[in-house]
Amino acid sequence: MLIKKRSGIEIPSSEITPESVYLSRRQFMRGAALSTAAVAAGGLLAACGAAEADGTENIATGSAAEESVVQTAMPGSVSATADELGDPLNSFEEITTYNNYYEFSTNKEAVAPLAKDFPTAPWRVEVGGLVNKPKTFGLEELLAFEQKERIYRLRCVEGWSMVIPWLGFPLAKLLNEVEPTSAAQFVRFETIEDKENMPGVNSPLFPWPYVEGLHLDEAMNDLAILSTGLYGKALLPQNGAPIRLVVPWKYGFKSIKSIVKIDLVDTMPQSLWMKAAPTEYGFFATVNPNVDHPRWSQATERRIGEFGRRETLMFNGYGEQVAHLYDDPNYDTTQGTQGQIR
Ligand code: MTE
Repeated sequence: MLIKKRSGIEIPSSEITPESVYLSRRQFMRGAALSTAAVAAGGLLAACGAAEADGTENIATGSAAEESVVQTAMPGSVSATADELGDPLNSFEEITTYNNYYEFSTNKEAVAPLAKDFPTAPWRVEVGGLVNKPKTFGLEELLAFEQKERIYRLRCVEGWSMVIPWLGFPLAKLLNEVEPTSAAQFVRFETIEDKENMPGVNSPLFPWPYVEGLHLDEAMNDLAILSTGLYGKALLPQNGAPIRLVVPWKYGFKSIKSIVKIDLVDTMPQSLWMKAAPTEYGFFATVNPNVDHPRWSQATERRIGEFGRRETLMFNGYGEQVAHLYDDPNYDTTQGTQGQIR
């Protein structure tokens, strides 16, 4: 089985833009210091569906077009104004008011107001399963991992996308700390199920809690991060505070929010979407413009804030970093029923 591993990401350095410059650039450029730190089941989601260093860095893979920007999140530090392809960041406003978070609402604009007072502290993430050193991490311990900025494209399976300057740290760092055993093959993630503060989880339309999963080799890829912030600020509830997954080469539904549990397991986890709409959202579903969703084309996408549509890139533009993971013909990364092990 075999999702192959590869290393070899090179790390050139780049500059830090002073916060004042960054803040004045464009109305969508906001910055601040990170303090400490198938609509309706069966068709819902119109669904959705490293570098160590001192200072600021870029992670590159050899060709400029494949670069992913990574920066150290320091109070006052800021990011670039665009991703490595030259596409401008979406505004803080866009990123925090147009959200998919079904625990609150299936209406994207309703999520932020409904999530406004969602309690995100204290918070604990229990990491266990097939590991040598199971551990429950408090928020402070999660924020103690070096937080860096990564500018990634987020492509929702529904056909819209954004460019987001996340803050966070590689998932691999957390997994290495708990030491997965040789039996571990998959990682299962679970969102908090807070009936009192999340109106959506009282809906019988979905098999709560929200669960997602990755193959261990996907999870250990450097691009997969646990995010605690964006635009230099701690995450807001609507974006998955206090901690969420971001897997930029996969459709957005994989990037599970407000995580409370991470388990290393030996069998493929059943995600909420696999249960709710099994013919549409397979486990290995990955951004692929050549494979249509059963109900719509995936060839193009609408970048929030733009008119018209743009072409969707294979692996969302991160092929150089991740395509090798799927060389094994036993894996089909298309979505729906085909997104399973053959
Ligand atoms: N995580 C949870 N727990 N619940 C959700 O409904 N929606 C997913 C993903 N993570 C979702 C979730 C989908 S479909 C997308 S596209 C992204 O979150 C959207 O992230 P954003 O709102 O921060 O842009």
